[in-house]
This record gives sequence, C-alpha cells and structure tokens, in this order.
Amino acid sequence: NEHKLILAIETSCDETSAAVIENGTTIVSNIVSSQIESHKRFGGVVPEVASRHHVEQITVIIEQAMEEAKVTFADLSAVAVTEGPGLVGALLIGVNAAKAIAFAHDIPLIGVHHIAGHIYANQLVSPLSFPLIALVVSGGHTELVYMKEDGDFKIIGETRDDAVGEAYDKVARTLGLPYPGGPHIDRLAQEGQESIKFPRSWLEADSYDFSFSGLKSAVINKLHNLKQRDEEVKIEDVATSFQASVIDVLVGKTKRAVEQYEVKQLLLAGGVAANKGLRKALEEEFGPSSVDLLIPPLSLCTDNAAMIGAAASVKLRNNKFAAFDLNGNPGLDL
Ligand code: KG4
Ligand code: ZN
Repeated sequence: NEHKLILAIETSCDETSAAVIENGTTIVSNIVSSQIESHKRFGGVVPEVASRHHVEQITVIIEQAMEEAKVTFADLSAVAVTEGPGLVGALLIGVNAAKAIAFAHDIPLIGVHHIAGHIYANQLVSPLSFPLIALVVSGGHTELVYMKEDGDFKIIGETRDDAVGEAYDKVARTLGLPYPGGPHIDRLAQEGQESIKFPRSWLEADSYDFSFSGLKSAVINKLHNLKQRDEEVKIEDVATSFQASVIDVLVGKTKRAVEQYEVKQLLLAGGVAANKGLRKALEEEFGPSSVDLLIPPLSLCTDNAAMIGAAASVKLRNNKFAAFDLNGNPGLDL
C-alpha cells in the first residue's frame, strides 16, 4: 500500500507542468515550464499562444519529470490531470496527454479540480487536519472554502466580480507595470506608505463574499484625478494603499470564518498566496492563535503539477477514477 506514485499533469493556464508525487505528500519531481515571457508583450495570457506552448512542451516536461524521479510508467499507481477550470484549449492538452498515458500503460486516470490542487499544495508542507478553512486567492479565483474532511469542499464565500490576482494585474497595468503585475505591486507595497485611504469592500455584514472591482476602479479614478490636477503621487504609496485594502478584507473575512466554523487549520492557497504582505498579515493574525496556519512555499503557490498530484492522492485512496471520456471543463465546479 505504501509508496504509491502518481504522475500529475497541469496545463490549465500558462504553466506546463508535470510531477511525480509519492503517497500524496512527497515531491519526487516537479517540473514547471512557465510561458510568462511569451504572454508579457500582450499584457495577459493569450489562450491560443498558451495552447501552442503546451503542445510543444508537454511531452518533454512529462519525460523530464519521469526521468528526474527515476521511475517508469509501470511504477505508477495513477496518472492525474487538471480537468478544469481553466482555458479549454490549454486544459485539453494535459487531459489528452494523461489519457494517452493511462490508455497505453493501463494506469488508472484521475481528474483533478485546479483549486483542489491549490488547496492540497499545503499537504506537501504538512499533514492536513480537519475541519479546515482554505483561503484561495489566485488570478481566476477568490474563495473561502470550508472542508469538513478530505475531498469535501464547501465554498462559503467567493468573489462577485474580479478575482484578487485579476485586480492586482489590472491595477498594475494602470501603473505601467509588466504582466503579471501582482509581484510588482507586492514589492512596491513594501516600500510605500498608506497615504490614500481606499475603500474596504465588506459587503453585507454576514457575507463571506468578496468584491474587488470597486477597489480597482477607485485606484484607477484616483490616478486619473491626480493626473488631471497635475498632482504627483508616489507609485509605492498607491501600491501600499491598494494592498492594505485588499489584505484588510481578506484577513478580516478569513478571521470571521475561522471563528464561526471552529476549524483546526487555516490554509492559504493560490498564486496570490505568494504575496508577502498577505503572508505577514496572516502570520500576525493567526501565529499566536490556536489555529494551525499553513502557507505553501512560493514555488507551490503558483501553478504546478505537484499540487495536482497531492489532491489526486485522495481520489486514489477512494478509487475515484475517471473514464476515458474525461474532458477539459473550463467551468468545472469544485
Ligand atoms: O494561481 P496562479 O498561478 O494562476 C491562476 O490559477 O490564476 O495565480 C496567478 C496570479 C496572478 O494574478 C499574479 O499576479 C498573482 O497570482 N500573484 C501575486 C503575487 N504573485 C503572483 N499577486 C500578489 N502578490 C504576489 N506576490
Ligand atoms: Zn492556479
């Protein structure tokens, strides 16, 4: 039963990645090929360009992951792949590669939800203990997820408009920063002052939902007004002020959820989990508390196949396999 190896594949957006994971907890190999350079000049991910890169890279990346892990297909207990959500053309490349391997080598196939992957990245850091709350913050998602037990996801709150990462990237673009802008705003935010008091979007008092488009517009309007009046503002201060509003709301709602659901653990997940300000704010808020705070290392926050392998291990244990009609599903529910 021990030493179960899963080959995992992730191609939902702009990273082509393959990994070999042991027992859902240990990374044997994790190869990530980023396409960011190719999308930069367009200021965002271009779906057609992403698909083409995945096609070119997928076989090479899978071979590399297998080689680095020093395993053969015969050693695998399953092949897992992100089935959604994401860009449909990008998803299909990974799904078809996984199906081909599963069929050719007679290995069980497992479909994984991309966000389940982000959440289970934490299992590569430390064992999970339930019930838990996961704060999922990425370029496409902003969700508070309650998990009573393994593989059981309940979304208790989500964004009603922009995802956090999306808001970061849009504000960054307005500030003339390169794509993806999140890391740039994060860096600038460490150097500025909160000289502008941007609104906090709390919504209804009992809601765990989020809204970031109002904040994004407030930043854009503020910059526009200052420019019209020929007034200067330090870009660092705009970054600090924007980030302060984002973090206040994320941490505030998370704190209320952690208390109401009386959880044992709080997990941070998704690309925006790389944010230094957010990590620090959560550590300050929950470090001294009774809740066990897990935050993945930076390399496991952004898209990677290791996290898909970790999430797949739960399905492997419960024999939840996919059939060969598995398809890429851009709107897959958690
Ligand atoms: O999870 P991810 O790699 O891809 C999606 O599934 O969306 O997240 C990418 C997002 C981008 O919007 C990027 O700007 C943001 O994560 N991001 C950050 C930071 N690093 C990446 N946002 C804020 N601060 C960061 N340090
Ligand atoms: Zn992601």
